Amino acid sequence: MGVFDTINDRRSIRSYKSERIPKDKIEKLMEAARLAPSAGNRQNWKFIVVENEQIKHQLVAACNNQAFVGTPSHVIAGIGDPEQKWHQVDLAIALEHIVLEAVELGMGTCWIGAFNEDDVKKILKIPQDKKVIALLTVGIPAESPAARPRKALEEIVAYNEYS
Ligand SMILES: Cc1cc2nc3c(=O)[nH]c(=O)nc-3n(C[C@H](O)[C@H](O)[C@H](O)COP(=O)(O)O)c2cc1C
Repeated sequence: MGVFDTINDRRSIRSYKSERIPKDKIEKLMEAARLAPSAGNRQNWKFIVVENEQIKHQLVAACNNQAFVGTPSHVIAGIGDPEQKWHQVDLAIALEHIVLEAVELGMGTCWIGAFNEDDVKKILKIPQDKKVIALLTVGIPAESPAARPRKALEEIVAYNEYS
């Protein structure tokens, strides 16, 4: 699959099969994150791969009771260092690498931005001075949602000057 097809096929998936994703595929996702660019190539990030059912269920409450967060094979948390100016951008790029590689490998993901950071930190034992940027649910899709609408190119792209 070409990069554009992968981008075009991606959907936020909120319904998952009970199937477990094998370790080698999870490692491929994390390798995709590892290869992501980062400001100054600092790579000042950490990814917590949650495979434990109990911990996943604790995350449901921490993620504003989004029940589907407890259902995928894995949940991945992206953690940055708020001392670094570009930490949110770095993490966003790396997490999206995971998302796109997941499509390539037949998995589905959903970005989770609605969460209580203190609760997630407590559950995953993340140091107070770190920042939880986002979580991703990762599993085998049990749904094929239609593409969500997007603004037209003319509305979001300007050439040479803002208009
Ligand atoms: C930063 C970010 C945070 C998001 N947080 C959530 C979330 O907490 N729960 C959820 O169900 N979807 C979440 N989403 C998914 C968006 O709702 C979804 O990407 C958008 O509706 C477009 O749909 P699509 O991803 O299928 O194209 C988030 C997406 C992004 C990029």
